[in-house]
Amino acid sequence: MGKTENTTPRRLFLAGIGLASTAGAAGIASGYVLHEVIPSSGHRPGEEFASAAAIPEFAAQAQAIREAQSKQTVDQVKALRKKYLDPIYGKVRVWEMIEKLGMCIDSSDNSLMLTSQFHHVQQILEAMEHDQVEDRNLYLTALLHDIGKVMLLAHEAPENVVGYIRPLEEPRMGAGLEHAIFQFGHDEFAYTRLKDHVPENVAWTIRYHSAMATSLGRWCNAKEKGFLNSTLSKFQPYDLGYKSYSHLPKINMAKYRAMIEDTFPQPILF
Ligand SMILES: [Fe+2]
Ligand SMILES: [Fe+2]
Repeated sequence: MGKTENTTPRRLFLAGIGLASTAGAAGIASGYVLHEVIPSSGHRPGEEFASAAAIPEFAAQAQAIREAQSKQTVDQVKALRKKYLDPIYGKVRVWEMIEKLGMCIDSSDNSLMLTSQFHHVQQILEAMEHDQVEDRNLYLTALLHDIGKVMLLAHEAPENVVGYIRPLEEPRMGAGLEHAIFQFGHDEFAYTRLKDHVPENVAWTIRYHSAMATSLGRWCNAKEKGFLNSTLSKFQPYDLGYKSYSHLPKINMAKYRAMIEDTFPQPILF
């Protein structure tokens, strides 16, 4: 993967720093006017920038989804797992599902706001290219990790699709995450569709990518600790750290489409 030509300090730009001086006065491309500029979680010391947390219209809706999601119960998880044993799209080419992410908006995400999940994926890929990441599995994870958000297009309630996940029932220390019951979302849905087609560490990372990697180690068995260190811990900073509602990545998607076609030569049940 070649290094990009961009000379802007990317981390600052993608974090939205470049917007802070203009957004307050002029509003942003979404048409909203920012009422105030507040520090966002994860910002660097001394840096402030605009996020949806400063836009009440968006933030209230995002908060409502996160609250509903936090109330998911074990019984609901079991019912959702059962519901999605059946395919919702039938046999599909995986690349087509990735393209469908262009129609998927995560209304709970204060960092992306109305930015599509397809652009979120592109932002991650661009950041990885910039850092000259060489591990093919990390690119594959980036392409596939949010593919489960196509559930939104099948009219699933957002609180059953998006958001961070935590175990509702924890396993013993070192027992392995499959013995826990995590909240249900796009992660588990995608895992069930992809697990027979991708390397095990990629499937595992997709399944748990919405959990905080730093919280998982105590429950992982030895094999999962390997996956956590080799893949999830490396992927998650890209997933969480390069969200922008204004930055449109300029990358060549042809090679990524080839990677997906190579990984999934046949349509799969989705
Ligand atoms: Fe996700
Ligand atoms: Fe993501």
